[in-house]
Amino acid sequence: MDWNGRRIVITGASRGIGRSLALNLAGRGGRLVLAARSGADLEAVAREVRTRGGEAVAVPTDVAEEGSVRDMVRTAALALGGIDVLVNNAGVGLRAGVQDMNPADFTRALAVNLLGPLHCVQAVLPYLRQQGGGLVISISSLAGILPVPFLGGYSASKHAGIALFRCLRAELAGRGVRVMLVYPGSVDTDFRRNALGDGYPDRARASRVSPEQVAEVVARAAEAERQDVFIRRSDRLLVMVARLAPGLADRVLIGRYGKSPRS
Ligand SMILES: NC(=O)c1ccc[n+]([C@@H]2O[C@H](COP(=O)([O-])OP(=O)(O)OC[C@H]3O[C@@H](n4cnc5c(N)ncnc54)[C@H](OP(=O)(O)O)[C@@H]3O)[C@@H](O)[C@H]2O)c1
Repeated sequence: MDWNGRRIVITGASRGIGRSLALNLAGRGGRLVLAARSGADLEAVAREVRTRGGEAVAVPTDVAEEGSVRDMVRTAALALGGIDVLVNNAGVGLRAGVQDMNPADFTRALAVNLLGPLHCVQAVLPYLRQQGGGLVISISSLAGILPVPFLGGYSASKHAGIALFRCLRAELAGRGVRVMLVYPGSVDTDFRRNALGDGYPDRARASRVSPEQVAEVVARAAEAERQDVFIRRSDRLLVMVARLAPGLADRVLIGRYGKSPRS
C-alpha cells in the first residue's frame, strides 16, 4: 500500500505514538485528521505537520463517547473527502493488582481501550466500504497477548480488543478492508505517567523503543500489507516462547513485572 494521498484518521494523536505516527504518515504523503481530547496539544501536532508541508486537521474527541466519535468521523470525511485508513491508537494504562483494582478504573480502561476502538471502527467502516476498501490499524500491546502481572485490567482490555479486531478481520475477509494489529512492548512515552491506578514503577534501565521507531515499523508494515506486527524480534520471540512453554514465559514476566505496586 502507498500512503501518498491516503485519507487517514489517527486517534490518540496529541502525543506519544500517535504524534509520531502523524508526523511519519504525513511525511509519506498521507492527509490526516487527528483526534484526542486535549485540543491544544492536538492542534500543536497538526501545526507541526503543516509546518513540515503536510496536511492535518485537529478534531478534539473522546473515543469513549460514541457521539463524540461519530461527530469526529463525519467531520473527517467532510474535511478529507472520504476516509481510507483508521488508526485506532488512543489508549490508557491501568496499573493495579487484580485483587485491589478499582472497578471504576477498570470500567474507564475498557471504555477507552475496547469501546473506543469499537466506536471508531463502526463509524468509519461505512466510508471504507463506500471507497471499495481500506485499512484499519489497531495499536494493541504485547500485554494483549501475554498476561502481565499488576497490569491485569489493562491487559484484559487489550486481550479483548485483539479478539474483537481478529473477528472483524475474519468478517471482512475478501471485502477489501484489511485489519492490521500491532503489538508493541514498552515504548518511551508518557503512557505510564498518564495511567490509571497505582502508578508504574520508575524503571530507569528498562529497555524501551522510541515512538518514532514504532511509527516507522507500522508505516512499513502497512506498505507490505502485513497483518500482525511486532516492533522487535525479541517481542515476537517472547510470544513464541509463551506458546511453546507458557510456564517459562510466565516466569520471565513475573521477573520483569511481578513486583507489587504497593511493596
Ligand atoms: N507506551 C507503551 O509502552 C505502550 C506499549 C504498548 C502499547 N501501547 C499502546 O499505544 C497506544 C498509544 O500509547 P502512548 O504510549 O502513545 O501513550 P500516551 O503518550 O499516554 O498517549 C495516549 C494518547 O491517547 C489519547 N487518549 C487517551 N484517552 C483518550 C480518550 N478517551 N479519547 C481520545 N483520546 C484519548 C491521549 O490524548 P488525550 O489525553 O489528549 O485524550 C494521547 O494522545 C495506546 O493504545 C497504548 O495502549 C503503548
